[in-house]
Amino acid sequence: MASPRALPTPISATSFFQSKPTAHSLNSSSVSKNLSFWRNGSGLLQLITLGSTRSRSNAVENSSPTQFSSESSQISDVPILSCSEATEKLRTTRETYESKQQYLAMYSSIFGGITTDPAAMVIPMDDHMVHRGHGVFDTAAIMDGYLYELDQHLDRFLGSAAMAKIKLPFDRETMRRILIQTVSASKCRKGSLRYWLSAGPGDFQLSPSGCHKASLYAIVIQDLSPSDNKGIKVITSSVQIKPPQFAVMKSVNYLPNALSKMEAEENDSYAAIWLDEDGYIAEGPNMNVAFVTKEKELLMPRFDKILSGCTAKRVLVLAEGLVKEGKLRGTRVGDLTVEEGKKADEMMLIGSGVLVRPVVQWDDQIIGDGKEGPVTQSLLNLILEDMKSGPATVRVPVPY
Ligand SMILES: Cc1ncc(COP(=O)(O)O)c(C=O)c1O
Repeated sequence: MASPRALPTPISATSFFQSKPTAHSLNSSSVSKNLSFWRNGSGLLQLITLGSTRSRSNAVENSSPTQFSSESSQISDVPILSCSEATEKLRTTRETYESKQQYLAMYSSIFGGITTDPAAMVIPMDDHMVHRGHGVFDTAAIMDGYLYELDQHLDRFLGSAAMAKIKLPFDRETMRRILIQTVSASKCRKGSLRYWLSAGPGDFQLSPSGCHKASLYAIVIQDLSPSDNKGIKVITSSVQIKPPQFAVMKSVNYLPNALSKMEAEENDSYAAIWLDEDGYIAEGPNMNVAFVTKEKELLMPRFDKILSGCTAKRVLVLAEGLVKEGKLRGTRVGDLTVEEGKKADEMMLIGSGVLVRPVVQWDDQIIGDGKEGPVTQSLLNLILEDMKSGPATVRVPVPY
């Protein structure tokens, strides 16, 4: 790394922070007074802690002593931690989080193994997934010690990886075995398994050519929060939907999805519904959407510009049972207008997180009679039954 001496004048920390001290900066243990930033040879900002002998020797080994002589009396209040101190901080910080979810086990191809210690559930900062969003992910629900639709989700996962040009670190069978083993090690019987494929760690460049090897990560999340079947409200998203090339793959680039969810919450709604570039109904930020018409037809938007939802596709199969019983006249997947959707008798969100959730209001429009619809309830029951006692094609037993 180039020495700061040969580089332009340091960019003062004050140019990054507000010049007038705010209440926050005065009260917090702000470090701005003690920091300077230098551009290193690769254009990265190197953070230099002034005044501390220990930090100076660690962070700016190559700098000239004269450069810092005038500031040498300043004392840094940013501690430099050993690996075990940093891990301990991770542990204690995690313990202070309030969450209904617990992380029971993590697999990392970097470790080449599984850990059940939440403080060790970390991934490298230089992983291309972290700093460039070059990663894909998927989920499978864990129900009563079985993985629900693991193979369907795994197929989509591998499809996403191919679209993101991520070379697989293992073959499909090995990855499947690792995922099942991770759930087994977690002892979790109800929750979810989430997994990622990333271009891997290597450097901070844009090109993944410096990434050593694609990495696989998986985590088992226990979720004991009770399920909620109450009808919810949705709005139309003002955040743009991802273009089809990116909407059909489950990459880690969920910023539009997160902003869309935030917009919904800001409007006392559960989700914001995307329309596609032609104005047809698309999907929610992490779920698909479906309708039941007055003529008792189940309608779903086409899957070619949105994520091909495993749960929605399973609902279409299970809905055939309702057609046989005469509760539905048929099912149709196609282009749906907002007008068609808003005048439907029933509307629902479908996904591995929400399962099947009734929607009773979309923007200002009350859906149907404003109550949870009977077909939606029947479809939820069918999915729950399928999760608990469906065929082997959708239920993979976990050997604990
Ligand atoms: C954008 C998006 N659409 C739809 C879904 C529903 O897919 P699935 O039923 O496979 O969970 C998800 C959830 O993964 C999603 O993120």
